[in-house]
Amino acid sequence: MKSVKHKIVIMSGKGGVGKSTVAVNLATALAMRGHQVGILDADIHGPDVPKMLGVEGERMMGSEAGLTPVLGPLNIRIASMEFLIQDPDTPIIWRGPLKMRAISELLSNVLWGELDFLIIDLPPGTGDESLSVMQLLPELEGVVIVVTPQEVALLDSRKAVMMVRKMKIPVLGLIENMSGFFCPHCGERTDIFGSGGGRNAAKELNLRFLGALPFDHRAMQLSDEGRPFIAASPDTPLAKAFDEVVENLLPRLGKRHAK
Ligand SMILES: Nc1ncnc2c1ncn2[C@@H]1O[C@H](COP(=O)(O)OP(=O)(O)O)[C@@H](O)[C@H]1O
Ligand SMILES: [Mg+2]
Repeated sequence: MKSVKHKIVIMSGKGGVGKSTVAVNLATALAMRGHQVGILDADIHGPDVPKMLGVEGERMMGSEAGLTPVLGPLNIRIASMEFLIQDPDTPIIWRGPLKMRAISELLSNVLWGELDFLIIDLPPGTGDESLSVMQLLPELEGVVIVVTPQEVALLDSRKAVMMVRKMKIPVLGLIENMSGFFCPHCGERTDIFGSGGGRNAAKELNLRFLGALPFDHRAMQLSDEGRPFIAASPDTPLAKAFDEVVENLLPRLGKRHAK
């Protein structure tokens, strides 16, 4: 981890809000800008990152020195529990201590090499795993919170923000995902889950609002095919909105550990 410049954690109050989607597209967007990028999938119960980057079923090679990450598109280095388990369809039933060992293995034993950015995809919520990732990772740059416009998700995300602050880790900002839907036929925008919730929550929690990402049914399909939308369909409103998020995030980096 010493040779990793910026470590950024993606977090949400609950599952299904697009955390992994944001993580893989952020990693891809940074790699497209010429950076050396790694992505650590710390969601050991639902490791989705390999599938989203089209490297599902690959294996991480282990040696005395540690685990070699799998190489994904644009040379993105990927570490995930998915690369270590035998049968991806069998759920892993971990007891607490074993789970923590698995996570600390992923955090401490991967041979990342020189990286500009390491994006860390957490499991949803503020449970043990999230806590231990934050405790075990030295010198985190900060956390990006992903919410959807529904009120429940926003309430959950408040807890996540409180937890991060308690641990004295900077919150880099908040992203509202699935914010509005563009009809593929007529192009009209509909706010299926309401809108503005993310911006309001950011204001209330005194966080930077990094941007709103619309719902795009093609993104889901591309994601299932292992192709992040930011590279596969860069001209869509979703990809453009995502680029704005990245541009809002980049100036926030390097403040904490500038040398
Ligand atoms: N902006 C979006 N437009 C369309 N589908 C999305 C969008 N964001 C996420 N999804 C889809 O929603 C589902 C959940 O997203 P995911 O990133 O796996 O959430 P999480 O990691 O928070 O559980 C996935 O099928 C993903 O492709
Ligand atoms: Mg996920």
